[in-house]
Amino acid sequence: KTIYLKDYKAPEFTVKTCDLVFELFEEYTQVTNLMQIVKMDKSAKDLVLDSVELELVEIHLNDVKLEEERYVVEKESLRVLDVEDEFKLIIINKIYPHRNSELEGLYKSGNIFCTQNEPEGFRRITPYIDRPDVMAVFKTTLVASREKYPVLLSNGNTESNFKLDDGRHGVTWSDPYPKPSYLFALVAGDLGVVKDKYITASGKYVRLNIYTDKGNESKCKHAMKSLKEAMQWDEEKYGREYDLSLYNIVAVDSFNMGAMENKGLNIFNSAYVLADEDTATDANFMGIQSVIAHEYFHNWTGNRITCRDWFQLTLKEGLTVFRDQCFSADLNSKEVQRIEDVKALRERQFVEDNSPMAHPIQPDSYMAINNFYTATVYEKGAEVIRMLHTLLGEQKYRKAMDLYFDTFDAQAVRTDDFLWAMSKAGEMNLEQFKRWYHQSGTPKLDVDEKFEDGTYTLTLIQKIPHAVDGSEQKPHFFPLKIGLLDESGKEILEKTLLISKEKEEFLFKTSFKPVLSINRDFSAPIIIDQKETHYGFLMKHDTNSFAKYEAAQLFGIQIIESLMQGNDINDEYVRAYGHILESDLDISYKALLLELPSISALMQRQNVVDFELIYDAIEKLQKHLASLYKEKLLEIYSKFHNPLCVDLDANSIGSRSIKNRCLKLLSSLKSNEMAVMANEQYSNSLTMTDKVAALDILENISSEYSAVAFKHFHDKYRQNTLVMNKYFSLLAASHREGTLERVIALQKDAAYNELVPNLVRSLVGTFTRNYKYFHAKDGSGYKFVADKIIDIDKINPQMASSLAGAFKIYKKLNVQNKKMMKVELERVVSTHSLSKNVYEIVSKIIKNQ
Ligand code: ARG
Ligand code: ZN
Repeated sequence: KTIYLKDYKAPEFTVKTCDLVFELFEEYTQVTNLMQIVKMDKSAKDLVLDSVELELVEIHLNDVKLEEERYVVEKESLRVLDVEDEFKLIIINKIYPHRNSELEGLYKSGNIFCTQNEPEGFRRITPYIDRPDVMAVFKTTLVASREKYPVLLSNGNTESNFKLDDGRHGVTWSDPYPKPSYLFALVAGDLGVVKDKYITASGKYVRLNIYTDKGNESKCKHAMKSLKEAMQWDEEKYGREYDLSLYNIVAVDSFNMGAMENKGLNIFNSAYVLADEDTATDANFMGIQSVIAHEYFHNWTGNRITCRDWFQLTLKEGLTVFRDQCFSADLNSKEVQRIEDVKALRERQFVEDNSPMAHPIQPDSYMAINNFYTATVYEKGAEVIRMLHTLLGEQKYRKAMDLYFDTFDAQAVRTDDFLWAMSKAGEMNLEQFKRWYHQSGTPKLDVDEKFEDGTYTLTLIQKIPHAVDGSEQKPHFFPLKIGLLDESGKEILEKTLLISKEKEEFLFKTSFKPVLSINRDFSAPIIIDQKETHYGFLMKHDTNSFAKYEAAQLFGIQIIESLMQGNDINDEYVRAYGHILESDLDISYKALLLELPSISALMQRQNVVDFELIYDAIEKLQKHLASLYKEKLLEIYSKFHNPLCVDLDANSIGSRSIKNRCLKLLSSLKSNEMAVMANEQYSNSLTMTDKVAALDILENISSEYSAVAFKHFHDKYRQNTLVMNKYFSLLAASHREGTLERVIALQKDAAYNELVPNLVRSLVGTFTRNYKYFHAKDGSGYKFVADKIIDIDKINPQMASSLAGAFKIYKKLNVQNKKMMKVELERVVSTHSLSKNVYEIVSKIIKNQ
């Protein structure tokens, strides 16, 4: 069944207050739910509550036990017949958290009771009007064994504690802020805690707690530091203070996504909380900083102001991602952050946008809303907010955000309401801009340049792709930042052009033909198609850090594509690459400039994908650069290789990043010398960053070294599931012979567990991105993944449907691969009692062939 935005109706009833009692036992949990309900639409007769797999104990309406003929238990709802305008309803029901493997609603992660209710998990806990535009004040009492669950948490503040005679105890929590059910949370467990505090700008004292499994307390330092940095940043940049006197974070191992912004009680995938030098990579530390900030920022953009319905998801997610990206840019390196964000957008969102699953950042229909927590809604959504920021400028953007907060606080609103504030305070007509919310696909911009009689003419033509259903879409309105350079590389002009028509022409008076640097800072999420290119020149001279990186990437792509056509390696590129090697740019940035284009970047440009052609060409280029610049690469490696350094300052991180880039390139020579170097790095370096980089190289160039090192790694870390994720994912990404057989065998490893999403993502998820073996010509990779989708769908449909996304490249495959994949797609889609999650993805892929 498909749900459409156009069918939205305001709720007939609303819940004023919701008082919950959870009696937690090992075998079941009893929930008592007391609601004060008010009729909003006087013509409504029955109250319909959302409810999944309801095991009802009893219902009381205004303190009278309801006879069975007064209500109906339907498939996904509970209907109470013929109710008054205002009433009190008590529902008592039973749930089974220890059997909940979907990880939605109330479930157990190890020995911890926890919840995940966004978007529609609450209906698995108790019957409710489970939609974000119903906002109630919640009070929650938890009762559990004192010995097993000494820590009992929910949203808001502790109101009271009590002890019972039978070894049980209870805590009552109350949250003064009305909220939708998706922000409700509870946690019960025997947890360790790290405590800290934060004084807000206006002097309010806030207690900060991070809870984890006991023994992990020392790994919470970075998360705590990041939380305080985020709190301060939101005060400085957005004038937003925290609004409760307590902020709790709980880390759990079994979690479908990254983390959840439940009011005052964030629940996190432990991968985004726990870190120390011995077990976490530099990228893990960065990930923690950004996800901690992301969930914190949701307190204003998401919780105080929430979404009217789930079609509005990007209202909170796109905006909050934009906020966390800016935060990370401010705290670390702006130039590196921007490049990393764009890289991630292209690898995931651009691929999605060019697939049968393409959708606007505000979709107009869905089967399973859980399938729409996508790169498009999140990352493209953030790019759309960034364009608004560019169009309005920092000052007006801030004024517009203030207006948004002032106008819509405590409400559930739409993206249109947000755009109203942007347009009003930003003094800008955004009617055409709205198309970014309703059109899918990545726009292309054809660029044509002409120089004649002292006039440089830039002609830009928007090529807007059709929607998935084949319908035509219209030109967009966006800012395009450009620079013009003279032949010596000096910048003569930088300007942000406003593009709105399908065809635009811009004239510049100059005495010479300038070199164009286009879409600086990636000012719009589009694909540039330039007739005339000067990549080598821009790699050297461009003053915009993003555009310089882009030139290096595009030049690399040009060379690889030309190799794929059987040509020789272009000398100008090789010299430009050497020029960067010699330059003394910031080392983190330089490491990015030295990165060759990814397989995914090249795939996206092929109409019919042929992987072998791509990696053979990339390998050839790597080998050429590595042998030509061997000495320089070795010199950089030894200059920055500092095995005992575990510091996390920019210079230490940058050093690891650049020397590992050099080592990786050198490893394409597949010589014993490089294997020895990588092996030494594995044995001597203290950081996980260096160990993982070394293992990746060993696995791909030397089966002997690899076997020993991986065994050592396994022996050392087999008890640490976060590190074992890295173990599985390194092996699943291997290009060495026999990877699929090893992946299959690894499922039997004692550390592997199909119930834990992180582990499935590390092993099976990584394998789907191993182009060489996932797309093996004999179809063995497709068959393995299809089997896993079918198995895991019975455990956790959300996890299964995210694996199914790996098939979205179907339409673009070559004949042979396509034939093999088709068999598997059809097998999956015809599986008995398939979830709607997997069905939605796979049926869209098949339909769109
Ligand atoms: N709101 C969370 C975040 O972006 C994501 C939760 C999504 N969960 C889900 N089951 N779809 O921070
Ligand atoms: Zn979010």
